[in-house]
Amino acid sequence: MKLYGVLGDPVSHSLSPAMHNAAFAALGIDCEYHAFRVSPENLRDAIYGACALSFGGLNLTIPLKEKALDIVTPADLARQIGAVNTVDFKNGIAGYNTDGIGARMALSRKGIDINGKKVLILGAGGAARAIAFQLAKDGASVTIVNRTIGRAEALAKDVSKVGRVQASSFDDPVTIIRDSDILINSTSVGMSPDVSETIVTSDMMHSNLTVFDIVYNPQNTRLLQEAKKAGAETIDGVMMLVYQGAEAFKIWTGIMPPVDVMEKAVRKRL
Ligand code: ATR
Repeated sequence: MKLYGVLGDPVSHSLSPAMHNAAFAALGIDCEYHAFRVSPENLRDAIYGACALSFGGLNLTIPLKEKALDIVTPADLARQIGAVNTVDFKNGIAGYNTDGIGARMALSRKGIDINGKKVLILGAGGAARAIAFQLAKDGASVTIVNRTIGRAEALAKDVSKVGRVQASSFDDPVTIIRDSDILINSTSVGMSPDVSETIVTSDMMHSNLTVFDIVYNPQNTRLLQEAKKAGAETIDGVMMLVYQGAEAFKIWTGIMPPVDVMEKAVRKRL
């Protein structure tokens, strides 16, 4: 039996154990996944300890993702993003970032090939960073807007090393959104308890738009409600959570897990 885990602080509300254990059970693999509360000061010991105990792999969450870069051997993309959310022990201690791939896979499931698409990203924090790097690398043309414009500009400068990207002000949202195929909210706006908040409303959207919200609590955010009103396609934050987990599962086991089983396990607990 192999053990897997998510390290973070706080971590008790993580949905990852339910999601991965459901996948292990569905595949009949004798493995268990647990949540471990670990402070940044103890991260090195925790990762090396898990390696010594022959863990199958780890996920990392707040506030450990950035700190892990100095502890593991990061893959190129994780190094560029500046954060690690997945650790694998097959070949030394390797670090990956599957957040951006999670976003791309959630879009592919809707039949969207990101190559050549115009993507508007709201936000410039850790989540926005992972998504912007991945989608730009995969051939999207990315525009980043953020409340603090300096952060959007700094992110665009970094991402420009791998693909097409610009930072923009949001003074004329209708024009920017009209020119976009995909809008991704990677801010925390709309998250419980502030469920009535949204940066974009239906009057700014169009029916050819795909609106993707990384917020999963609530699942049907105000932004997604507005998108539906405008006749736009929607993708919720559960899909991002599930696919970043599925990609981690694939790195550890070499097997693409049953995504529908993982999705059901997460939705049941929300
Ligand atoms: P994460 O790592 O989860 O992305 P973060 O680094 O704290 O978290 O980033 C949060 C993002 O949400 C930022 O882009 C933040 O904008 P600022 O850079 O201006 O702080 C954005 N955000 C949070 N609350 C917001 C609000 N009320 N309105 C607009 N943007 C908001």
